[in-house]
Amino acid sequence: MSSQNIYILGIESSCDDTAASIIHNGKILSNVIASQKIHEEFGGVVPELASRAHQQNIVPVVDQAIKKANISKDMLSAIAFTRGPGLIGSLLVGTSFAKSLAFGLDIPLIDVNHMQAHILAHFIEEDGYSIPPFPFLAMTISGGHTQIVKVNSHFNMKVIGETIDDAVGEAYDKSGKILGLGYPAGPKIDKHAQLGNPKAFRFTKPKVEGLNFSFSGFKTAVLYFIQREVKANSNFISENLNDICASIQYTIIGILIDKLKLAAKQTGINHIAIGGGVSANSGIRQALKDGEQKFGWTTYVPKFEFTTDNAAMIAMVGYLKFLNNNFAENNVMASARLKI
Ligand code: KG4
Ligand code: ZN
Repeated sequence: MSSQNIYILGIESSCDDTAASIIHNGKILSNVIASQKIHEEFGGVVPELASRAHQQNIVPVVDQAIKKANISKDMLSAIAFTRGPGLIGSLLVGTSFAKSLAFGLDIPLIDVNHMQAHILAHFIEEDGYSIPPFPFLAMTISGGHTQIVKVNSHFNMKVIGETIDDAVGEAYDKSGKILGLGYPAGPKIDKHAQLGNPKAFRFTKPKVEGLNFSFSGFKTAVLYFIQREVKANSNFISENLNDICASIQYTIIGILIDKLKLAAKQTGINHIAIGGGVSANSGIRQALKDGEQKFGWTTYVPKFEFTTDNAAMIAMVGYLKFLNNNFAENNVMASARLKI
């Protein structure tokens, strides 16, 4: 089968990025993203604005992905799209578009679970990046997700831990909002953190049983701490920004690493892959590297463009499902709460 010329168009529209990508026999030919700037002024994603922006972006983004791949649309073997989870209005735009294009071209349609795609992004062939062997543990950390998944094979995955409230990216973004850093705040906190003392201020870690996470109490702890300090010194934030960011980052990374340690112990699996926007974080990358020495882990971080929300990962899953003849019915519906 893989000796054939298989071209898959992947479409991603689950949150605030409209993205399209072409994969050819497992190799990405194009990966186009239109990020929606409109949400910055609101300090977070506004669902209604996101779906409208998807409607404006989807045709030019798909067109560009096909042009950049240097193919024509009649060469496509199938169309893969994100069915869920995500914002329903956003998902509907990608789903309807994918359905109509597949119908128009008379080619199969492939539905993709966004959370599986973050994990299967590790299987994109890319020089200098190795592919984790089964079974491995995957931790997906972003503005919308915080999950640890035991990956037995491409399509046999089990969620063994997840957040019971906010995602880790939200903990970054909400802490950053309190500090006046704007949205998204993760990269800014990361930058300041590298210049500060991680032990300057102490935030207690939430006590959550097993492999689940909780970040809403942490954000409240940051809020109360800042309110108290600013009352005593109105310049507290500007005078201590690097140390505050370093302390926030130190606590968040501690929470993530504690859970990974427990997951590795419980499953006996030492191959650990991470994905999602927060995996760009310098502190988590360093902590994983340290884990290789300290705990005997082998760790995997995909290329940056395949780790934040993107369509290359959707196209990759589309390719794997195509090889398995795993196609969607024409009446497939978007599903906001789709599970792995
Ligand atoms: O995967 P992503 O682009 O979109 C989804 O949320 O699905 O992730 C965005 C999240 C935001 O919360 C952003 O603040 C966070 O990833 N982020 C970071 C860093 N870069 C992005 N958080 C911490 N450190 C970073 N360097
Ligand atoms: Zn995502």
